[in-house]
Amino acid sequence: MWSSQRAANVPGSVFSLMDAAKSRALGRGLNIIDLSIGSSDLHPPQAVLEALWEAVLDPATYRYPLFSDTAPLRDAAASYMQRRFGVRLNADTELLPLIGAQEGLAHLLLAVTDPGDTLLLPDPCYPPYWGAAAVAGLNVVTLPLLPENGFLPDLNGVNLEVRPRVLLLNYPNNPTSAVADLQFFQQAAVWCRAHGVLLIHDHPYADLTFGDYRAPSALQTGLSGVVELHSLSKTHHMGGFRVGFAAGDARAIAALARVKGATDFHPYLGIQRAAALALSLPHEVGRAGADVFQTRRDALVPALRNIGWEVQLPEASMYAWARVPGLTDSVQFAVQAAEQIGVLVSPGRAFGARGEGFVRFALVQPPEVLQNAADRLGRFSEGHSGR
Ligand SMILES: Cc1ncc(COP(=O)(O)O)c(C=O)c1O
Repeated sequence: MWSSQRAANVPGSVFSLMDAAKSRALGRGLNIIDLSIGSSDLHPPQAVLEALWEAVLDPATYRYPLFSDTAPLRDAAASYMQRRFGVRLNADTELLPLIGAQEGLAHLLLAVTDPGDTLLLPDPCYPPYWGAAAVAGLNVVTLPLLPENGFLPDLNGVNLEVRPRVLLLNYPNNPTSAVADLQFFQQAAVWCRAHGVLLIHDHPYADLTFGDYRAPSALQTGLSGVVELHSLSKTHHMGGFRVGFAAGDARAIAALARVKGATDFHPYLGIQRAAALALSLPHEVGRAGADVFQTRRDALVPALRNIGWEVQLPEASMYAWARVPGLTDSVQFAVQAAEQIGVLVSPGRAFGARGEGFVRFALVQPPEVLQNAADRLGRFSEGHSGR
């Protein structure tokens, strides 16, 4: 009673198991290294914090924000998209602020589908995708992301009898940290347009890229039939602020605005001001954070290879996705690693069936701590029973 079928359909999270394992490890007095959650440990740029501070003291920010109040953030998002990707957007009709990309995706699915429609979902993927699909009552058809295909889906292998309505992609990818080039998005967009499928690209790691690598935008393939979700959580380290934006096809953006009109009033005005400022900062400001993650990547990946784990060198994102030789139960492995050696990683299974055999590391600790985690895991996995 008092739970809908819809609520019951939302899958439980493996992360609560991990949380319980962490509490047990703390209870045993273990020194914990938590690499399980992809929440940046860096701080937002100082100017962004100052903008928020000023806004908090400005009574004009205390009321409900209306659509017209979101114009400065929409304008800032439009110039960011133009500057960064060469994508021209109408800030009135092709952009909408979000209370984070996760909120945006859940509402977007409600806005552009009807119950029973088919969603093409990569497996593995960011776990809330499964829940958002369940809330929207969608029929999920998974697209395996396999290492041999560079963790890109094979769209030509999709059985069109499932009558797909939406394809959801995410590159740079969570959890695999794989990247996709513009040609891949062009092929995906052509495929989607040919089959009447809306392409949603979740792009929170757009600027969390390493070295010379630059991630493209799916909107570089055109706006019709494409919506992209951007976030301030990763590059700007503003995860707790809950702010992002949706950009693309004006019909889908209008539908999203309608659904959101029933559920929220846009982000707090002060957060909008801070986000608008963040989006207008020079690219180099974001690079500084990305360089920190790159240094961590360069510490962890060789350390994992040293203990015999297979891991590619990510070009972007804040993760390393490692295949553990012989691993068949990643959940048991991760829980036991937490309890016995105090190292928390995300079990690959938490991201979908195709994630089994892998674990995901979030690069949210300094290099020496990451190396220490790899050393502990090397010793632990030698004697681990779940492999
Ligand atoms: C692929 C993906 N999408 C969305 C999000 C959440 O973004 P936001 O904080 O903007 O809701 C994350 C966070 O880890 C993510 O990895």
